[in-house]
Parts: sequence; C-alpha cells; structure tokens
Amino acid sequence: MAVIAKHCPDRILRVVDINEKRIAAWNSDDLPIYEPGLDEIVKQCRGKNLFFSTNIAEAIDSSDIIFVGVNTPTKTFGRGAGCASDLQYWEATARSIAAAAKGDKIVVEKCTLPVRTAAAMERILSEHPEYHFDVISNPEFLAEGSAIQDLEHPDRVLIGGHQTPEGLKAIQTIVDIYATWVPREKILTTNVWSSELSKLAANAMLAQRVSSINAFSALCEETGANIDEVALAMGLDNRIGAKFLKAGPGFGGSCFKKDILNLVYMCESYGLQKVADYWRHVVLINDYQQERLISNILKTMFNTVANKKIAIFGFAFKANTGDTRESPAIAISNMLLDEHAQLAITDPKALTHAREDLKAYSEKVCFSTDPYETVQDADAIVVLTDWDLYKTLDYERIFKEMRKPAFCFDTRNCLDGAMLKQIGFQFCGIGKPS
Ligand code: UGA
Repeated sequence: MAVIAKHCPDRILRVVDINEKRIAAWNSDDLPIYEPGLDEIVKQCRGKNLFFSTNIAEAIDSSDIIFVGVNTPTKTFGRGAGCASDLQYWEATARSIAAAAKGDKIVVEKCTLPVRTAAAMERILSEHPEYHFDVISNPEFLAEGSAIQDLEHPDRVLIGGHQTPEGLKAIQTIVDIYATWVPREKILTTNVWSSELSKLAANAMLAQRVSSINAFSALCEETGANIDEVALAMGLDNRIGAKFLKAGPGFGGSCFKKDILNLVYMCESYGLQKVADYWRHVVLINDYQQERLISNILKTMFNTVANKKIAIFGFAFKANTGDTRESPAIAISNMLLDEHAQLAITDPKALTHAREDLKAYSEKVCFSTDPYETVQDADAIVVLTDWDLYKTLDYERIFKEMRKPAFCFDTRNCLDGAMLKQIGFQFCGIGKPS
C-alpha cells in the first residue's frame, strides 16, 4: 500500500488492522517490520495519502477498493490440521466488509488462498444484494528483504477476475492502479481461478528448486562433487536458469511450507493423492536437509555436542529481514538443544523473534547482536543466515577466541572456506567435499 501511495498521489490509502499496537508502530518512527527502503516511502507518504488506523468499518465504508491481506496460517486444529489453510480471519474480514459497506465495492484478494476461495467471498457478500461487489484476485509476488525492489520493478503483476462485463471493468480498475508505474505488458489479466492457483504454483515451483538443489547437495557430499560447481553448470542452461539454485539449510519463511501444504491438502481433497505426495516430498526433503545437517555436525564434532558452546550466526529465515517464521534456525537450534548443546545466537535484526522462538530453553541460550561476543570459548560456529556482515568478520580474531579444535559449519556456503581452513578452522560447507 505504501508503494501504491507513492506512485498514486491522488489516491487515499487507508491501512487498517485490529491490532492497536501494530498500527501505533506503523504511525511511529519504529516500523514493526524491517524491510530495506520501506522507512523512506512510509515517511514520504504517511499523513498525506497513506493513513494507518484501527477504524476498520470507517475505512471499508469510505473506500471504493478494499485489498484484503489478512493472515491465512496453516490450520492447527480439526480437519486438515497441519496442512489446510485456516480461513477464519479471512472469512471474518468478508463479513466485516459485508456489514460495513454502504455502496458498491471492488474486493481484492491479496492473501494467498486455496483455489476457489473467491467464490466464498462472493457468497458472503451476496447476502447484501442492495450493493454490487466484484471480487478480484491479485496475488503478491514480493519476497521479504527485497519487497520494495520487487514492487517497484515486478516481473509481472497478476490480476484475475470474472470474464463478465462487470468483472472486466473491475479488472481494468486495478490494472489502472499498477499501470501508473508498471509497464502494461507486465500486467497479466486472467480468470480468478488461474490467478489464485498461479500464486500457489509459483511458490511450489520455487520451493521445489530449493529442495532439488538440497537433494543434490547430499549426493555431492557422498561423491566428491561440489554443489556450487553443479549449480553453476546446471544454471547456465537457460532452460533451467541460475536463480534459486543455492544449497542451504532448507527454505524457511511464512510462505513456502504453508503454501505447499495448502496445495497438498487441495490435491488430496480432489482425490489427486499422487500429486499430493509429489508436492509433500518437497517439504520432506526440506526437513531432511536440516536433519542431515545435524548428523554432519555431530559426526564431525566427535559424536557429541553436550555442554559444548555453539555460536549460531543468523536466525532470520534469510538475509535482510528480521522475520524468523519457519526459519531453518528454529529446527536446527532445537535439535542442537536436544543434544544438550549451549547456544550463543547472533543476528542483526531477528533477536527479538529468536528469543520468543526459543523461550522454552532460556537457560541454555544467550543472545547478542555482536558476533564477537558469541564466539568467546565457543567450540563451533554454525552459519544459518547469509548476512553480508558475516563475510567480512575478522576470523583470525574469532579463531583466537574459540576453544580448539574450532569448527565452522557454513550452511549457506557464504564464507571463504579456503581462508578459514588456512587460519586453522575445521571447516565444512554444504554439498562440498569434506
Ligand atoms: C517467497 C517467494 O519468493 C515470493 O515470490 C512470494 O511472493 C513470497 O514467498 C510469498 O508467498 O509471499 P520469501 O518467502 O519472502 O518469498 O523468500 P524467498 O526469497 O523466496 O526465500 C525463501 C527461502 O528459500 C529462504 O529461507 C531462502 O533462504 C531459501 N532459498 C532461496 C534457498 O535456500 N536457496 C535459494 O536458492 C533461494
């Protein structure tokens, strides 16, 4: 909404949420999320044509277009628990729109939803036949850490609507918003169901690439091949392409796992068990990569990490974000703590969430934004997030501070392994000859 506000100064954007603390943070100098470039845009537009408030009914009534971006987490209870999307917040929003609207509206699905969810929104809104509602699907393709860049220069903007005269008019209204800064040929219009499914399909394909490269990393370790060389050789085939072929500790974040499980559940509900099994394996390989990592750490550190101090470099699910949802760091830390290791965790942006994620183990874990503090008397470093700052630390100094032998497990293949070995580290990357 901030990026729309920046490019469409004649439109008023009202961002509303039931959470008062969050809205207060959006109105303060300390925004509730870290995203490079976001502060500047919010400061530029806030109070002019971008407003944050908790007055939901007023915002619904006074707007012509309503973007719905509520969370749709994986269900934790009842039928489909652990797989299906929990649509309760989404349905509650549909009902609030129906209750507060006093005129025609275009309702835009921004959240990632199971296919055909727009039909449910239409059904709820149709209880108010005095007004006309058009439901449009406009899934978001931005990635965290590069959100502003992705919104400013998207590969494509997808807008799905019904192929009726009213539906096409509503699609055009949304096209006009994006066309103020996105070249028209990058704005793709489709039917609603294609748009809903494309979002899940794109995430599933991206996650599948990560699981595929991680599966090859396991084979590299057994055969003496080097995953970086294999990824480079594969990626140069322009039918495959170079992006999303970085081996690592497995994908994290609030989207991939949730969306794939949602897809698995949908396939199962349509009786497509083999298709469901195919996609479920993308998640299983992801879990396997983390288990494999722990086995390698244990094997290398003489089959025990009990009472050893392990410095964790990075807790966010990827660099340039403070988000730790589904971060590989959570599962890996839990497995190390189950082996009775002591953890010293460092991350420039994610420590507040990390403390919350590991609160069950508070005596066994300490936190610091200073990596040098975390390595004091540590037996090993495990790099879990590829923050740039870890590439330029003084590893001679770090080596001196650590117990010997000093181990370094670089699960992102982002450090200079040859240099670390020369300093004296026992160094292990991922998918590399040991
Ligand atoms: C993902 C998609 O990339 C976005 O297009 C989509 O809009 C978004 O989900 C969403 O559904 O909202 P995001 O989860 O923010 O974006 O982050 P990604 O950059 O996709 O990374 C996901 C995970 O895969 C991270 O843990 C990352 O470290 C890992 N990854 C990515 C790898 O391990 N290797 C790679 O080569 C690429």
